[in-house]
This record gives sequence, structure tokens and C-alpha cells, in this order.
Amino acid sequence: MTSVDMRTPEALADAERWTAHNYHPLPVVIAEAEGAWVTDVDGRRYLDFLAGYSALNFGHRHPGLIAAAHAQLDRVTLTSRAFVHDQFAEFCHELADLCGKDLVLPMNTGAEAVETAIKVSRAWGYRVKGVADNRAEIIVASDNFHGRTTTIVSFSTDPDARDDFGPYTPGFKVVPYGDLAALADAITGETVAVLMEPIQGEAGVLVPPTGYFAGVRALCDEHNVLFVADEIQSGLGRTGKTFAIEHEGVVPDMYVLGKALGGGIVPVSAVAADRDVLGVLKPGEHGSTFGGNPLACAVGVEVVRLLATGEFQRRSAELGDRLHAGLTALIGKGVVAVRGRGLWAGVDIDPALMTGRQACERLAERGVLAKDTHGSTIRLAPPLVVTAEELDHAVAQLEAILQR
Ligand SMILES: Cc1ncc(COP(=O)(O)O)c(C=O)c1O
Repeated sequence: MTSVDMRTPEALADAERWTAHNYHPLPVVIAEAEGAWVTDVDGRRYLDFLAGYSALNFGHRHPGLIAAAHAQLDRVTLTSRAFVHDQFAEFCHELADLCGKDLVLPMNTGAEAVETAIKVSRAWGYRVKGVADNRAEIIVASDNFHGRTTTIVSFSTDPDARDDFGPYTPGFKVVPYGDLAALADAITGETVAVLMEPIQGEAGVLVPPTGYFAGVRALCDEHNVLFVADEIQSGLGRTGKTFAIEHEGVVPDMYVLGKALGGGIVPVSAVAADRDVLGVLKPGEHGSTFGGNPLACAVGVEVVRLLATGEFQRRSAELGDRLHAGLTALIGKGVVAVRGRGLWAGVDIDPALMTGRQACERLAERGVLAKDTHGSTIRLAPPLVVTAEELDHAVAQLEAILQR
């Protein structure tokens, strides 16, 4: 192919011209995808080791999920919650069962589910715990990432996410992630919830110290505080279990889910909790036009059924061991540290060699798509359908770009 035939430069220039610059994408223009692979507009193939930040846990265009979407497209796609549709109860019931909770409240994006968790926690605080009006506090962790709404960025500690978007929503306290003593000090009679990611993805796939979340759970129990686990990126098979918090032997009061719940097809998010928590909401207090729509529920229920088999969690655990062994072998050869669980890894590249961005650009040139986070850290999160050979291939490409 000559450069004249190449469509990538033109497509990149067009995208740059017509959109706000709130992202800095790698120079790859994807036209098609299947499983763990994507193909760009010039016909080049790449292994997708980002998987839509875990929204594509089941791979691109999983046949069962695509079939469910097609079937639903031919029946009914949107009703609003003003009426009930025939996909709704099944999805909510099966998701509640997967979570081991009484009730589910479906929304669309992750940020909306986090907002839902915040509102439910506050309402629970006033109506059940008896906190005085407008005094409810929610404790979050430093380096958190819970989404982009104005309330959520109010408690971000990342200047890029937060600066110039004030005035900020009050009612949040930030404690260092992993520091139990700091959490114990921060809890007051007005604390209604502790909201945390079981593993912090955007922060660089940070795994907390062993026993941290057992301690969080104990403190929440002691002080009648809800423990809300944001499993939007860490959940639904990514770490080798249905929920990353299971590795800690802990059950939260509320799960916050998104990304993979939509099967990589539609945005589907939800919170799941028992009746004594989620039951505090009354008609008219919360909602979303698209939340729990028929297409979302038809895809979402198939996602839940895929997870109920346990196959994806098993693959993630087994192949995750292989991925981590391969990456750990690169420590001292251009890699400084590797963190994560299952098919999820944060890899710190030696900053003397290159930035995370440069590493991702070089990986893309070698046909592997990944995403940098801060500084010299890159994140690897392939779809859970990836094969052992594909994993080995990607690790070999990483090794190759680290050669001086
Ligand atoms: C842990 C976590 N929470 C919330 C969100 C926000 O999800 P969304 O981008 O769908 O609003 C993300 C997105 O990356 C996330 O990783």
C-alpha cells in the first residue's frame, strides 16, 4: 500500500478537526474488530490489550452477545421507565443473583452508577442511619477514579481531572488508599459510606496491602457505614473472580458495576444492594431515560449468563498467571515493577528508557494496543477471550520495545 492509499492520516486529521481535544488517542483508526483483534482503516491488525478499559471483557463482538442484541433490535429497543418491558425483570433478577444482593438499579454509564451510589448512600444516611440534614459524609481514597461528573471530580486527587471544574461538591473526605489508620481517624458519626475501587485501575492498577479491605469492612460494620465497591473496571471477571473484592474475602454493601456489563455493545451500568439500602429510594427520586432499556437488558442478561458459567473468571485467573509470569520476567530488563490480578496488569517501565505514552506508541507499531496511565506506567487488560499464544506474543513485543 502506498502512502496515498492510506486512510489513517486523513481520518486522524478529521477527528482532530471536528472534536474537542479531551482525549489524546494513539494514532490508530479502527474499522473492524473480532475477539481480541481489531483492524484499522488501512487493514493493519492489532491485538487489543486495553479492551475498552475492561468494557470488552468478552472480546469484540462476542457471538452470543451480538445475537442477543440483534434479536432485541427486531423487537423493542426503548420504552423509558414510564412503562415496564419484558426484558427488565429478568436482567435485574439475574444480576442481583450474581451479586448475591436483593435489588438492582440499572443506569447507563459508570459515572451515573457512581452518582447513584452516592445518592443512595446519602439517602440511607438520612433515612436509616439518622444523620442530620445535609451533613452526610462519604470517604474516598486518594488517586481514585470514579468518573467525570462534577460531583465525582470534586473528590478526585488528580489535577487533570479536577482543576478548573469547581466549585466542588462538598461532603467527601479523601484518605490515603491502603491506610487503615487514616480511614479509622476519618470516620465520624456523619459518615454514611466508604467508596473505593478494590484495585485502582486509572492510578496504575494499584493493589492495596493484604487485609486492607477486611479492615475497611470491619470499620464500616463497627460504625454503621456502608462499604461501596466500585467494580466498574475491576469487576465482571477481569481479575479472575466475578468481583475483585472477592480476593479480599469481603462482601460490600453495594456493588457499582458498568463497562463489561454492556458486553462492549451498549452502555449498561448498575448498582446492586440489599433492600435495606437500595430500598430507600422512592418513585421520582432518581432515574434515567435510557437506564434499563430493553436493548441494554437483553445484552446485560447474556453478560450475566456468561459470567454465571465461571468460564471467563477461570480463563482470567489461569491466563493471568501466565501474563504476570511473562511480565515479571521483564523486571530488570526495562520493567521496574508489575502489579495486578488476573488478566490485568500495571507495568512500570524504567522512566530512563521511555514514557508510558512512548511505550504504547511503540507497542502499536508492533501491533499491540495498550494504554499508558501516569508517567511511565502502562496498563494491559486484554479481553478474557485472549489465547495463551496471543499473550506470549504481546509480552514478546513489550520485551522487544524495551531493548535499547
Ligand atoms: C473504577 C471506575 N469507576 C467509574 C468509571 C467511570 O465510568 P464511565 O466512563 O462509564 O462513566 C470508570 C471508568 O474508567 C472506572 O474505571
